[in-house]
Amino acid sequence: MKISIPFNRPGLAGNEIQYVTDSIRRGHASGDGFYTHRCHALLQQSLDVPKVLLTTSCTDSLEMAALLLDIGPGDEAIVPSFTFVSTANAFALRGARLVFIDIRPDTLNLDETQLKGLISPRTKVIVPVHYAGVGCEMDTILKIARKHEIAVVEDNAHGLFAKYKGKYLGTFGCMAAQSFHETKNISCGEGGALLINDMQYAERAEIIREKGTNRSRFFRGQVDKYTWVDVGSSYLPSDILAAFLYAQLEARAEIQARRRSVWEYYHHHLRDWAQAHGVQIPFVPEHCEQPYHMFYLLMPSLAQRQALISHLKSMGILAVFHYLPLHLSEAGRRFGGSDSHCPVTEDVSDRLLRLPFYNDLTEAEQEYIVSAVKVFDGQ
Ligand SMILES: Cc1ncc(COP(=O)(O)O)c(C=O)c1O
Repeated sequence: MKISIPFNRPGLAGNEIQYVTDSIRRGHASGDGFYTHRCHALLQQSLDVPKVLLTTSCTDSLEMAALLLDIGPGDEAIVPSFTFVSTANAFALRGARLVFIDIRPDTLNLDETQLKGLISPRTKVIVPVHYAGVGCEMDTILKIARKHEIAVVEDNAHGLFAKYKGKYLGTFGCMAAQSFHETKNISCGEGGALLINDMQYAERAEIIREKGTNRSRFFRGQVDKYTWVDVGSSYLPSDILAAFLYAQLEARAEIQARRRSVWEYYHHHLRDWAQAHGVQIPFVPEHCEQPYHMFYLLMPSLAQRQALISHLKSMGILAVFHYLPLHLSEAGRRFGGSDSHCPVTEDVSDRLLRLPFYNDLTEAEQEYIVSAVKVFDGQ
């Protein structure tokens, strides 16, 4: 039989289908029903965040954060060039100029030592992305942001349940965006959450999420009818999706343990090979607890990265590259990137390869992947 190992495969934790059926039987399948409230409570309690709102994606959470911060033309947003488009797009949509910051060569997170040189009187927000769920240097970032009165919004798409210096990622900025996209540890296909740490944004966040209406207050009986009070959009997921997500969130301990063993298998079996072949593997500083989201190889050159992808493909294994530098992209140049200097991003983007990583990846599959990597002769 021909072997075929995808890069990602969505998994079931156990109770998803039962909860989805139940969400419909309860007679409230649209947003903010029984399971949405359960997800909110679980995330608030487990992360110790004062207010969590489920959204339809991390992209939408970032867009909500940009609206809540009243970002507009003339403002600047500092974002890493090495990230998904949504980190930047959310602020470009509001008319902000993007200021791209390079990354550190060890964690691939934004290089906090470059922040001071990029801040201007127009800087309104810094958006740290915790790459692979390994925490950015939040102490330094927050210190600089406080000094210049700049908001910090964490893009924590990869880092649910990871920690920096003992505190959960997503709890440092005034707000943080989570993703429950299919590729994430915990998923409902497409989904997200906005974590609100600074409660001055909480009430308006509910309004913006509900098409600019005060429907959330109406549902709580705080007003006798609901009406249009602000700008907004439809950022809330159906309770059917929340039901699916709740089953996954309930199983977070098992899911995280499973992913840990996948990550450790790769690490254990590839670290000596990597060292002998000039390949860099993920680095997790001692003060960071990672969420075991991803395992990547930084190959010595673009040519070798491409050759390894082809080699693995010929053996039925789908390994993939990751972000292309945003400051060099067509839109990135238009929204501010033309004068950016991000050499580490450009280099890493060329050389990085992600190995298959999903909750149900078996040890036999990993054994096959590892041996396929090891027989790669570099050509
Ligand atoms: C760093 C980062 N931010 C945001 C997103 C967008 O997430 P979503 O697909 O939930 O909108 C992604 C996608 O994987 C991402 O990698």
